[in-house]
Amino acid sequence: MASTYRSPDWDTYRMDYSHSHREVEPPEKEIGVVGEALECLREADILPHTEYNPDKFLAHRRAVAELFEIPWTAITPRVQRLLYAINAIVQPRNMIAAGVFCGNTFISNAGAGVGPGACYAARQLLGVEIVPEEAARAERNVRRIDPSGIARVVAADAVEVVAEFAEPIDLLYLDADGAGGKGKGIYLEILEAAEPRLHPGSVILAHNSVNCAERLEHYLAYVREPGRFPASVNVIVDGEGLEVTGR
Ligand SMILES: C[S@@+](CC[C@H](N)C(=O)[O-])C[C@H]1O[C@@H](n2cnc3c(N)ncnc32)[C@H](O)[C@@H]1O
Repeated sequence: MASTYRSPDWDTYRMDYSHSHREVEPPEKEIGVVGEALECLREADILPHTEYNPDKFLAHRRAVAELFEIPWTAITPRVQRLLYAINAIVQPRNMIAAGVFCGNTFISNAGAGVGPGACYAARQLLGVEIVPEEAARAERNVRRIDPSGIARVVAADAVEVVAEFAEPIDLLYLDADGAGGKGKGIYLEILEAAEPRLHPGSVILAHNSVNCAERLEHYLAYVREPGRFPASVNVIVDGEGLEVTGR
């Protein structure tokens, strides 16, 4: 079933994309909005509960602010917290993030499994970035937080990596802006390549469900089609949006 969570101020909530670490609202406000979104995902049976450790999240946020080189990012503080919390709750052994640019989106997911915010033992947390220079920077960033190598970034096409991945995929994060005129339309190609390895309990996250809704038309229609997936929620806590689909 398809549904929507929309915070009342989603369209006035703003961040500076070049200074992603600046606080844009009181912490209680951010925690409250993210808590409501998590509750909505629990009601849709995508998440089993809504609990995550806020101190570990802050340790993660501080480490990223200190150690990552981030030229820009569209991941707002609300979505950074939301991604961390979803991963802390789902605890994916295997997570793949497609289209990670400098690695900020990737670590917002992977930070629940590695580094100072780690709250469970992960197996493989894989970021995929098709531009080699960006993949190298993302990998450098990630190595500063996770010396273990459980989280890593590879320079490759996410469609191929997902298709060749030999194990179950517990969480798939989509943010690739495909080359060759495909744009965000590549989400559906990546999801279709991943489907044989998704299982009941897997979660699929798709960034830009609001500001790229038109370019994601086919993807959004696919995940929201009645009967295809048990539930899909358009989580709107900012102007970008995150479609959260449960398998
Ligand atoms: C717009 S960026 C994502 C930025 C992210 N939303 C943030 O705020 O940090 C999309 C990235 O996807 C990458 N990309 C495009 N097609 C890809 C593919 N097939 N596989 C992996 N990465 C891809 C692009 O090179 C680009 O770095």
